Amino acid sequence: MVGADYAAFGPMSGARLGLGRAADKALLAKMDTDIDAEGTGLPAGSGTAAEGAVLYAQQCAMCHAADGRGMPPAFPRLLGRDAAAEGFTFADDPKLPHTIGNYWPYATTLFDYIKRAMPLTAPGSLSDAQVYALTAYLLAQDGVIAESLKLNAESLRAVKMPYVDRFVWSDEVGASR
Ligand code: HEC
Repeated sequence: MVGADYAAFGPMSGARLGLGRAADKALLAKMDTDIDAEGTGLPAGSGTAAEGAVLYAQQCAMCHAADGRGMPPAFPRLLGRDAAAEGFTFADDPKLPHTIGNYWPYATTLFDYIKRAMPLTAPGSLSDAQVYALTAYLLAQDGVIAESLKLNAESLRAVKMPYVDRFVWSDEVGASR
């Protein structure tokens, strides 16, 4: 069909074709929660590792195991940095376990990931305070932050992951900094 023939159909409106619906602003806002490595976009609220421990046991342990070691092969390991793996030698030995503490370059994106994707069966169901609490719990359990550190936008931005220096920044157009 050439352009002129398309025109004969009239505008491709949802009403005409019976497809789709107008974009729902509230739904879009719920999905538009990107938080970048520097922590831009982190919401208000706060949470502690102690609060996160309770949530973890209720909503995460059934897949990631009570001790965070995961349930291979489907459910990834989150916790349990292996002293032998320190030094970031994954490239040499793929069997060394990745955990949050020895593999994630940014704590801010851990928050983003949990908020957007977990728990697997109900993504988006956690409040911001609950996501701060779970992030605090996982970081404290993997020896990145103190148990007592309350996480909020400011304190989370200040967390430096142990192996951040082993990653190369890329904006996917070939630049690095
Ligand atoms: C029903 C099972 C299930 C539940 C419940 C669940 N997860 Fe997950 N989780 C997964 C699976 C599967 C993946 C891997 C997803 C992928 O790679 O796309 C994952 C990945 C993750 C990761 C990324 C791991 C990595 O390093 O790649 C984190 C962090 C995480 N989950 C945290 C949580 C937290 C926190 C909770 C509780 C609020 C939770 N999960 C509940 C199944 C689950």
